[in-house]
Amino acid sequence: MNLPRHIGIIMDGNGRWAKKRGLPRSAGHIMGSKTFRKITEYLYDLGIKVSTFYAFSTENWERPDEEVNSLLKLFGEYITIYYNDSEMKHKYSSVRILGDKSKFPEELRDRFLELENNTAANASEYQLNIACNYGSRDELCRAFELLRDKDGPITSEDISNALYTHDQPDVDLIIRTGGEKRLSNFLLWQAAYAELYFTDKLWPDITEKDIDEALEFYSSRERRFGKIDKDNK
Ligand code: IPE
Ligand code: IPE
Ligand code: MG
Repeated sequence: MNLPRHIGIIMDGNGRWAKKRGLPRSAGHIMGSKTFRKITEYLYDLGIKVSTFYAFSTENWERPDEEVNSLLKLFGEYITIYYNDSEMKHKYSSVRILGDKSKFPEELRDRFLELENNTAANASEYQLNIACNYGSRDELCRAFELLRDKDGPITSEDISNALYTHDQPDVDLIIRTGGEKRLSNFLLWQAAYAELYFTDKLWPDITEKDIDEALEFYSSRERRFGKIDKDNK
C-alpha cells in the first residue's frame, strides 16, 4: 500500500460526542485525548513518518472560558503522560507544536518548549506535530513577516521554509472526523495537493479501522499534480 508521507488529522466532534451522552463538552475532550493517544501510536506502528493533529485553532479561543480552560488543562496533562508513559512509542519522535505558543499561560508554554527541546534530538525519523493555537492564516502572516526583508523575489519554497512545518513534506492526506467538509484554517498552504477524507464518525469514536479505511482511500487515488494520467499519454 502506498502510504502518505505526512497525514493531517482534524480531530472534530468531541463536543457532539459528549452532548449525545448528556455530558459536559470537557468530557468529550477527555475521551478525545484518549483517542489521540491511541491513533498517534497506530500511525507510528504503520510507519507514517510525519503526522499533524489539529488540537486547538486560533479561533477556538472564542469558546466559553470553561471549555478553553479544560482544553489547556488537558494539554498540560498530555505532556505529563508523555513523560511518564514508558510504553509510548512516540517517545522516540520529535514533537513540534505548530502555532504561537506565546498566547498560552506561562507554565504551559514552558512545558511545550521543554517537550520540543527534549525530543528535538530524538534519533528516530518520526515527527509528531500538534497544531495548538494554530491557524494557517496566522502561520502565513508570520512567514511573510519573516521574509519581509529578503532580497529578490519571494519563492514558493521560501514560504514553505518559513512555515511551522519547515523541513517537513507537504501534507499528503487530511482526515477530518465529525462530518464537516471543510478545512477550518488547517494547513492551507501545505494541503495544496492533499487528498481529503471525511468521515461522519466523531473523534472519540475513531478506531484504528477508520484510519485503515482512510489509508485505503488514499492508496486508491491517482495523484496527478496537474499533469495527465499515465494512460493518456
Ligand atoms: C474538536 O471537537 C476539538 C476542538 C475543536 C478543540 P469540537 O469541540 O469542535 O466538537 P464539536 O464539533 O463541537 O462536536
Ligand atoms: C477545527 O474544528 C479545529 C480543531 C479540530 C482543533 P472546529 O470545530 O473548531 O471547526 P469549525 O468551527 O467546525 O469550522
Ligand atoms: Mg467542532
